[in-house]
Amino acid sequence: MSAPLIITIDGPAGVGKSTLARAVAETLCLPYLDTGAMFRTLALKLGAGAEECPAQSLCQQCAAWHFSLRGSGGSTVLLCNAVPVGQEVRTEAVGMLASRVAAVPAVRDCLKQAQRRLALSCSLVAEGRDMGTEIFPEAQYKFFLDARPEVRALRRQKELAAAGTTVPLAELTEQIRQRDTLDRTRALAPLRPAADAVLVDTSDKDIPAVLAEMLAVVRGRGL
Ligand code: DC
Repeated sequence: MSAPLIITIDGPAGVGKSTLARAVAETLCLPYLDTGAMFRTLALKLGAGAEECPAQSLCQQCAAWHFSLRGSGGSTVLLCNAVPVGQEVRTEAVGMLASRVAAVPAVRDCLKQAQRRLALSCSLVAEGRDMGTEIFPEAQYKFFLDARPEVRALRRQKELAAAGTTVPLAELTEQIRQRDTLDRTRALAPLRPAADAVLVDTSDKDIPAVLAEMLAVVRGRGL
């Protein structure tokens, strides 16, 4: 049996990873793994006190949550204990909490095992911060997306506006900078490109252009 095909997509908050990972997965008919949603889900379950919790107790709590995937492409669903992970994890507050909880070794370790387990049974497109560096260093294709913080904040502002919420750009830019700092400077699995990742700056490109660039890399190497 040949090894599962793994495509990793890493990058900071608001760079378009989820949209692009879903689009790549849809084009190639592969399941899509949103590891940020896994951290967000655990952050919600564990609550704000998780950072102070003893490692052993955290491990026990994390072990009670089992992640699985259903479907593929754009219709992939991430399940936690057989329940689809929903919009409740998508707020800025949960994102910030996830970023803090993601620096806790016991939590990272638990999710590392869960993420690797998911790739044992199928090929997938995995999106996050450390997919190409820590979780799937053996991945056949690795991408690292980046964009200027102001551009990412503006995209987020438009998304929120479409959902009926108005948030000042300066506030969103500050939140993005804070989360970047937490994710890039933590001791364990910090956000950084893998040495063999293809770097794509999405600041001045739209989603179809970046998607075309990524698919050209994948197809250019024979998939
Ligand atoms: O991609 P996202 O914004 O949904 O991720 C939320 C937080 O989870 C992010 O700020 C850091 C953490 N995270 C991580 O540390 N490692 C990953 N592979 C994915 C997310």
